[in-house]
Parts: sequence; structure tokens; C-alpha cells
Amino acid sequence: MTNERKIKILTIIGARPQIIKAAALSRAIKNKFKHKIQEVIVHTGQHYDENMSQVFFDELDIPNPDYNLNTGSGSHGKQTASMIEGIEDILLKEKPNCIVLYGDTNSTLAGAIAASKIHVPVIHIEAGLRSFNKSMPEEINRIMCDHVSALLFCPTKSGYDNLLKEGFKENNRPPYTFDNPKIYHCGDVMYDNSIYFSTNAEQKTTVLKDNNLQQSKFVLATIHRNNNTDYPLRLNAIFSALNSISSENKITIILPLHPRTAKLLSKNLSAELYKIIQTNQYLKIVTPVSFLEMIALERNSSMIITDSGGVQKEAFFFKKPCIILRSETEWIELVKCGSAIIADADETKITEAYNYFSAAKKLEFPDLFGDGKAAEFICGEILTYIK
Ligand code: UD1
Ligand code: UDP
Repeated sequence: MTNERKIKILTIIGARPQIIKAAALSRAIKNKFKHKIQEVIVHTGQHYDENMSQVFFDELDIPNPDYNLNTGSGSHGKQTASMIEGIEDILLKEKPNCIVLYGDTNSTLAGAIAASKIHVPVIHIEAGLRSFNKSMPEEINRIMCDHVSALLFCPTKSGYDNLLKEGFKENNRPPYTFDNPKIYHCGDVMYDNSIYFSTNAEQKTTVLKDNNLQQSKFVLATIHRNNNTDYPLRLNAIFSALNSISSENKITIILPLHPRTAKLLSKNLSAELYKIIQTNQYLKIVTPVSFLEMIALERNSSMIITDSGGVQKEAFFFKKPCIILRSETEWIELVKCGSAIIADADETKITEAYNYFSAAKKLEFPDLFGDGKAAEFICGEILTYIK
């Protein structure tokens, strides 16, 4: 056994993409740092359906959470407040060397507030991303988390540059704290995962066969942003576009539907459109799928239409054109290199983007997200700088 110091990190997960992102760090710890890093995992319970949470633990070899706060759904204030209270108690009990937070959800914000107030160093993975649209709950969460973090790991150069513009410095020296933070451009743990889990995703799942899907003969779509689901005009425009693209081109669109959207379809779509989409044989609305199933769908699709941050990037990792159902994106590199188009919730723009990509000859997918070893790098830096 080694006499080396072992540090304790406390990881907060809660929403689907965080559980997936956490798999990369847990894997790096298991493979390379198990004698040096002890990970305590706290699930806030923000997502709780079997297919929004447990499926990822079963499939991605993530250790079961040491704690589950069972927070569940609620208004922003109620949900976040309940998580802060629960996380604070655990921090006081576990006394970790730092807290590790992913992305920009209410679980991220709760972890940032709970930890920073009692001076537990915050490590933010997926730092620096900005939509420059503060009406998005995620924009508030990510800005607040970045500004109380000690180590900030940006997946992209543009994320790193955003931090510089907000006053973060490149030349701080250790010890790093929230008043003297260290910023990195280190690649994306989602890219690590996409490489790691994509081997044989088709053979390990039956999603293509079950849905009668053939390679490059279908489009994958996801919709869950509150700005789309909660506004009838926007939701109708999106579904109207998906309906006409699929029926006019006789191409299947498969839509694994987030529970938020599923619950609002009958309320926010017009009765007429709601009925039409249910009888459109080319529009397959299914329940959320596992990560390996999602990779199989992404890799075999001809195009991806989404408002998800993670799915936009995975489209790029698997070299698929992407139509973004938002008015802006944090992943501006995808749009700059021409492999993604921002179409918002605008029926005409969505249809035009579909037609453009259907006819487009060759798209560019340069290496922008690291070398697939971001999680190992992050573990090494945490070990070096967190005492
Ligand atoms: C959250 C994140 C968002 C992220 C998304 C990933 C915030 C503010 N938003 O959005 O950034 O992109 O997760 O998927 O943190 N629900 C269920 N079962 C579940 C989970 C949710 O039915 O297991 C339904 C509930 O009706 C709930 C609604 O979905 O009210 C929204 O869930 P919530 O976690 O508040 O936000 P998301 O839209 O999932
Ligand atoms: N995902 C999944 N099953 C689904 C839809 C998405 O496994 O049915 C994965 C997807 O591959 C990506 C992550 O969930 O890794 C993205 O999460 P989501 O779209 O919920 O949130 P966002 O990335 O927008 O925060």
C-alpha cells in the first residue's frame, strides 16, 4: 500500500447529463487514482425516473451514490433551497477536501452555494460556457458557480475566453481559492465518454432494431428546454416542423421525449397538431433511452435536431449535422465550423436547415473537444492543487 496522501472529493449529481458526465471522472479515479482520491457521490434526486437516473448507473459503471437527497421536482427556489440544505449537512459531516460540480443545473448551483459559504473549495467541470441570455435558468447557475470556484475546467477555448472577459486571470499562482482561481482549457469529459462508450453501442443495444431504424435513414430529435416546452407558440412551431419534415420527406424522426416535454404536449400543442403527430407514422415519439441507446441512435442517424447542450455536442462528435432549436448556443464552435445551424423555434428556419443539410456535400468536424482524457487531466490537477 502507498503512504501517499488520499484526498476526499464530494461529487454532486442530479440531472441526467450530470450523471453521464460523472461517469468519466469516476472511471478515471477507478483506473488511475484509486489510491489517491476517494469519491463520495451525492445524488440530489433532481431527476428520479428510472430512465432519467438509475439506467445510467446500471449501464455506465458509476458507483451508486453514497447519499440521495430525493429532492424531486419543484419551483427553482424550492428545489434549490432543499438541495442546499441537504448538501450543507453532508459537507459538514464528510469534510471533503473539495466539491466537484458539473454543468449548469439547479443541482450545480445548490452545490456551489452550500460549499462556498462554508469554504469548501469548488471544482467546476464545464466552466466558462455562456449563452449571454440570462432568461435561461442555466445561465444564472453557471455564472454563479464559476464565480465561487477555485479550479475551473473549460471544455472549449471559447469557454476559457469567456472567463478571461469576466476578469478571471491566466497568471494566478497557487494556492488556488475562490479569490485566486485557476482556469483551464482542458477538453470535454463528454467527449471522453463518447469515445469510451461508443465501441459496439449498436451491438450492445436493440434500439435500432426495436424501432425499425436503418443506418442514415432516420433523424434523431430531442426537446426539453423550458423555453420551448412551456411556450405554446414555440412548441407548436417545433412540432409542426418535425411533422412536416418527416411526412413530406417520408423520413422517420425518432424523438426520445424528456418527461418535462411529455407532460406538456397535450396542454401546449393545439388539439389539431396533437392529433396529427399521433397519427404520423414517420414521427416516432418514445420514452427516454439509455446512454448506449442514445449513442447508437446518434451514430446511425442522418441528422440531429435538438435543443439539448449535450446532444448538440454528441452530434458533432459523431460527425452529424445538427439543427439547434434555440436562439443561441454556448457551443458556438459547432455553428462557426458550419456543422450546426441555429434555427430557434422557427418552423421555416428548421425546415430550411433540414433541406440545407440534406443537400450539403461535406461538413467539417475539426478536433475541438480534447483528446478523450479530460477526466484524467482534471483528477491530476485536483490532486496537485487541492490540499
Ligand atoms: C434540468 C436542467 C437543465 C438540463 C436538464 C437535463 C435546471 C434548471 N435545468 O431541466 O439545465 O438541461 O435537466 O435533462 O436544473 N421530470 C420527471 N421525471 C424526472 C425528472 C423530471 O417527470 O425524473 C419532470 C417533472 O415534471 C419536472 C420537469 O420534468 O417538473 C422538469 O424537471 P427539472 O429537473 O426541474 O428540469 P429539466 O427540464 O429536467
Ligand atoms: N440522453 C440519453 N437519453 C435520452 C436523451 C439524452 O442518454 O433519451 C443523453 C445524451 O446522449 C447526452 C445527455 O443525455 O449525453 C444530454 O442530456 P439532456 O439533453 O437531458 O441535457 P443537456 O445536455 O441539455 O443539459
